[in-house]
Amino acid sequence: MANHKIIIAIDGFSSCGKSTLARELAAKLGYNYIDSGAMYRAITLYFLRNRVDYTDAAQTHEALGNITLTFELNEENHRSEIHLNDENVESCIRDMIVSEKVSEVAALREVRAFAVAQQQQMGEKKGIVMDGRDIGTAVFPKAELKIFMTAAPEVRVMRRFKEMYATNHHITMDEVRHNLELRDYIDSTRDESPLRQAEDAVLLDNSGLTREEQLKMAIEWAKSRAKKKAV
Ligand code: DC
Repeated sequence: MANHKIIIAIDGFSSCGKSTLARELAAKLGYNYIDSGAMYRAITLYFLRNRVDYTDAAQTHEALGNITLTFELNEENHRSEIHLNDENVESCIRDMIVSEKVSEVAALREVRAFAVAQQQQMGEKKGIVMDGRDIGTAVFPKAELKIFMTAAPEVRVMRRFKEMYATNHHITMDEVRHNLELRDYIDSTRDESPLRQAEDAVLLDNSGLTREEQLKMAIEWAKSRAKKKAV
């Protein structure tokens, strides 16, 4: 019964702590963790580096044909990291230059179809925790457990600021706040799979919760869904 693997979809606004929870939950359950946002970021990085005009459908189509995305285990930190055409790009996909464009790129229908097809393939064997914006609504609408995460705006700004300040001492809170607000707006108002809470998702507001508290809640939800599945 304990071996019954399920799919866990975690969606929510930017910088709610989705990836921290998803990674820790996957490790506890012995599941694979996939950061779907990293895929949109790596595609954006490719477009920027190769000066792809992604407002042009033909250029976008051609560029996607030259992109291979894989997740590889980093033996040093034991994390699964994204590779763009065999190059580990984990350290550059969170730069502001990528963050400023990623929501526009992720709103494109062809880009979404490209990413979603690969995400669905990764979930074929179940035993996966994936975080993003449309995992419970579009990628895995039948996921056994869906969690929709949210947190107070200032908590989110502070989290992302700390994360970015670690590698860029010139970043300001205002820049981070502006980028988060803009991305949330684009992500939740776009035509293609906008960010929204799936009807059957559990809402998790983690503004006042510790990492351990949220993880404990998520493990309990996962265990009870896996048990239900096994009955
Ligand atoms: O989770 P993140 O901030 O790294 O995601 C980067 C962007 O990618 C985000 O602004 C919206 C987009 N995204 C998406 O549209 N669908 C997903 N499943 C994941 C991310």
